[in-house]
Amino acid sequence: MQGKWISVDEVAGIPYKECVNYFKTLINPGLVALLEMGEYTGVQPQSAAGSTIIDTSGRRILDFVSSYGALNLGHNHPEVKKAMLMVLEEERVDLSKELLSPYAACLAHNLKLLTPGNLNRFYFCNSGTEAVEAALKLAARYFKGRRSRFIYAENSLHGKTLGALSVTGGQRLRQHFPLLPGKRVPYGDAGAIERILRHNPDKGEDAVAAVILEPIQGEAGVIVPPDGYLQKVKKLCERFGVLLILDEVQTGMCRTGSFFACQHDEVIPDLLVIAKSLGGGLASIGATIATTRVFDGAYSNPHDCLVQTSTFGGRSTSCAAAIAALEVCCREKLDVRAQTLGSRLINGLRQIQMKYPEWIREIRGRGLMVGIEFNEDIIDRTQYLPARIPGLKNVLKEHLPGMVAAALLKHHSILGTLMLNNRSVLRVYPPLIVTEEEVDRFLAALEDVLSRGAKMLVKDRVNHAIGSFGLKFITPWVASLGRDKR
Ligand SMILES: Cc1ncc(COP(=O)(O)O)c(C=O)c1O
Repeated sequence: MQGKWISVDEVAGIPYKECVNYFKTLINPGLVALLEMGEYTGVQPQSAAGSTIIDTSGRRILDFVSSYGALNLGHNHPEVKKAMLMVLEEERVDLSKELLSPYAACLAHNLKLLTPGNLNRFYFCNSGTEAVEAALKLAARYFKGRRSRFIYAENSLHGKTLGALSVTGGQRLRQHFPLLPGKRVPYGDAGAIERILRHNPDKGEDAVAAVILEPIQGEAGVIVPPDGYLQKVKKLCERFGVLLILDEVQTGMCRTGSFFACQHDEVIPDLLVIAKSLGGGLASIGATIATTRVFDGAYSNPHDCLVQTSTFGGRSTSCAAAIAALEVCCREKLDVRAQTLGSRLINGLRQIQMKYPEWIREIRGRGLMVGIEFNEDIIDRTQYLPARIPGLKNVLKEHLPGMVAAALLKHHSILGTLMLNNRSVLRVYPPLIVTEEEVDRFLAALEDVLSRGAKMLVKDRVNHAIGSFGLKFITPWVASLGRDKR
């Protein structure tokens, strides 16, 4: 063995800089470089509770990312933690497929009480992407292989495993992978789906099994579809006999002001997928929820029952966490909180937009799932652009929301970040337990950052980047931008 082994007891004492270096050398150098650009690696996190992260110097950072929707209950919710510890203390038999977990059973029972319509079968796994995989497989299996194509939306994000990635529209994520053929349509355009389904063969290579959509697109930059869109798609699916899969990995668990976003549209899919905050911010759990007809059509007998399983899926600690998380959502009416605080946030943002129209193109969202689309043209009008770096302007345009997020962190101790499939949008996803004061603190901070002007923003970031990495780092990055666009 080369080097000294680090015991679990020693981990907390390892200097944070050393841990960042392990990430850089052993895990993901590109990620560390990206984080260093925004000065995120300068924050040494010590602990977190509710919507606040505390660093080793005692600085309190307000989290407006919520791990992309996994922290709807905030960090380290005491009831979720207690539930997980309780199960560990019970020293239960776990991970057994032969001896069933009462926690998985009772989680299914409780989820049923919250799930609309006849969605009566629950498959538990460990993540959103796995839950999407399970939904795609269920749909294909339901049709006994006669139909196996999926219709999915441009710019969607459903996960990064090959199946889920095949129905993910974001080009940056898809490039260079061997994906399942599918049919991509513009999000919000029911007519595009109809044109495909009108000619859907009953079987064969081209036959569509299901349409998969997010009720509101998250990583595409918080895209709320036109009113009636989901209803129309549901009717088309019924008319042409294909299944509708709704991915509520981000929108579920009260984020948009109702427990599931599809309830807002009064649409009940054939398959519904949740994950992220189902684990209350502490456990890794996802669920694929199916109608009895679809589930039993796929895996109804002892011969088929182990076709779709997962070693860790539905383990007791995760299911206990989910039961506690659901209880908190209901008792604290996080759906209503998301509505009221979401209105306060969106109204506040619209006022800032009126004051700074040159910065903000659009404010979008529902509940506390909000995105700010910036106007990258502001970079063209910025005086401060070191001419010796060709292509820098494009990098800065692509990173405008990233630069705003970096300024929010640096000057206001607020954690913000971008969206994976739309680089002009800043994600505004506070935990649903956020207070009015915290919403107002975010609004005041954003206004302050914009009031400093684009020149300050750019200068700050470019100086930091050149100071930290030198031109050697910037130049290949500029080149890689061109590569991405191809
Ligand atoms: C809508 C949606 N579906 C699926 C996923 C994949 O979830 P996970 O990262 O848990 O695999 C994500 C992740 O962000 C998502 O936003």
